[in-house]
Amino acid sequence: MDPLKTTIPKRVKGLDFKAAEQLTRRLLLHDAALPVYSLLPPTPPSPTVTAFLQPTGFSVLPSAVDPASKGHTGLTPRYGVPPARADNKRSQIRFLISVLAVFVDAHPNPNPVVVDFCGGCGHVALVIAAVFPQCRVYIVDGNKVALSIAKERAKSAELRNVQTYHTTVQNFSLRFDIALALHGCGGASDAVISAAVRTRAALIVVPCCVGAIVTSRGSVTGAAISHKDSVLDIFGKAKIDWHVPRSALFRSLFREGDYDCLAKAADFGEHGVDDWRKISKALLEWDRLQWLREGQYHARLAKMRPLSCTPKNDVLLAWPRTYSSSFQPEWPLDGLANGFVRDVVEGSVLNGLGLAEVTEVERMLQNLVCDANSPGVYRSSAGAGKRRRKVVHAVAESMGLWHRSDGRGTQRSVLVRRTPHWPFFLDTYVGVGGPIIEAISAAFVSKVPEHLADRRVLVRGRPHHITIVSPVEYGCLDSQYRTDRAACLELVSQQLFGTSLKVMGLGRVQRSAKPSTLVSWDGNAVEDTTSYYPNDVKHEVFFVVIEWPEAQQLRGQMGLPVKDLHITLGFTEKDIHNCRKDLNTLIYPVSSEYKLTVP
Ligand SMILES: C[S@@+](CC[C@H](N)C(=O)[O-])C[C@H]1O[C@@H](n2cnc3c(N)ncnc32)[C@H](O)[C@@H]1O
Repeated sequence: MDPLKTTIPKRVKGLDFKAAEQLTRRLLLHDAALPVYSLLPPTPPSPTVTAFLQPTGFSVLPSAVDPASKGHTGLTPRYGVPPARADNKRSQIRFLISVLAVFVDAHPNPNPVVVDFCGGCGHVALVIAAVFPQCRVYIVDGNKVALSIAKERAKSAELRNVQTYHTTVQNFSLRFDIALALHGCGGASDAVISAAVRTRAALIVVPCCVGAIVTSRGSVTGAAISHKDSVLDIFGKAKIDWHVPRSALFRSLFREGDYDCLAKAADFGEHGVDDWRKISKALLEWDRLQWLREGQYHARLAKMRPLSCTPKNDVLLAWPRTYSSSFQPEWPLDGLANGFVRDVVEGSVLNGLGLAEVTEVERMLQNLVCDANSPGVYRSSAGAGKRRRKVVHAVAESMGLWHRSDGRGTQRSVLVRRTPHWPFFLDTYVGVGGPIIEAISAAFVSKVPEHLADRRVLVRGRPHHITIVSPVEYGCLDSQYRTDRAACLELVSQQLFGTSLKVMGLGRVQRSAKPSTLVSWDGNAVEDTTSYYPNDVKHEVFFVVIEWPEAQQLRGQMGLPVKDLHITLGFTEKDIHNCRKDLNTLIYPVSSEYKLTVP
């Protein structure tokens, strides 16, 4: 069985699964939010590491460092890993050693200090000390008993390069070169990332759940709602910075309460894992990774191998941009993990709901709600079934329409209507859709290669739109626009209803494999790995180039620069952002004008 594809019942206490699923689907519609997994570069050839990575590797090390060993006299067996979990623990350690070998090999310090944060009784740290005798290894943990076992095991294995520190991650202040953390509880992973950033160290972090933290107000996720709180760690004392979402990108995409919802979905144990929840966790990790990238770090997300060694198998790998110029390999993409993400995205957006049914509902809503002469309201027939209601909700949402379920039991139905501002809508971005935009799109879509247009429909849904304010821009707007969303939409519709937009023709952008460079919040260049594609695939996007002076004026009023307004018609794999989509990109120029009237 494919270990990525386990499906287990969805009912979990405290989790609004439907809301989490909808949120995940909404996030995955934004290319930049789509997690991209990399494969590790090859492990450098070192005799000790190579010997250890053999299937019999643990036999070349002192038995006290083996998690499967019952230990020598004096070791407390109740802290050993139970036999049923020993194989998985061994696999996790083997994987981490293969990653660490890459980092140690490239590190400017030939004798780097490696800290195993939340290292417990030393399962990982002791193997590191044995396999990399050139490194000094610190174990940091807030649990004194676990550390005393680690000390005893180190002594028994005659390891002289290990030191233990009984403190919390937040209070550890020594300098170090590489941070490692395997399943540190909850926000401890964030504390490890912060500690590494503080000392400009590289990091290898396998995050765990986010629910194992006690806050002054209850759950960690409860605290997360305020977006600016601190929480206590599992020891109930040391504060962990908990500003969530971490990255500017995700802050721009989240609404109040979203992080809470996503964190709950991502907080699965060995049971209760399904595709949605894995993707929710991947999104949380992608947020942490984006935050590192927006700062001074190169960062990659990877999946531990074998995938079955733990359900929490996402790994964050990051190193300062100053690390070593040789250590910026173009890491290959992880086909299996990315394929899984793609399957969920495609499944979620359309296929999962049934492509034919989605198309039918889209046509129906177009005719009954969107078209100029339509009644503007649609109610599904009572008792149409849960699945049908789900399709209607999803399609209405993707068309920027207002939708709500009402009635009970067999009388339950979905009501869909235009919002007062329709065809303008404010989702995570401000856009305009509707019949005029569809008419413009229809005039050009036949000139776009069919499979590219199909791909857009698959990823984005059928309706077309013009983005007036992008999600990232919306997140940066003055708070008056963000706190009063209705007023913001009112302003947009008031200024743009009845104005004319000029269609300039069909544009195209092609992109080669090379990652492009963006500028982050701190003014530094950041590699745009979200637009990073394998060498052998040429990516292109087709769009209608639009000139719309009133929309540019409105953007100026909001403090935003001029934008290349366009309607995306098709793309190879995903949309290409951060490039010009102006008159210079035209491959089929025409000129016509459309008045944006109330339908
Ligand atoms: C699930 S165990 C993982 C132990 C070890 N990394 C492993 O995989 O075998 C989590 C460990 O994190 C420690 N921990 C959690 N929060 C911490 C914090 N804020 N500071 C230090 N240690 C912490 C706990 O004491 C515990 O030993």
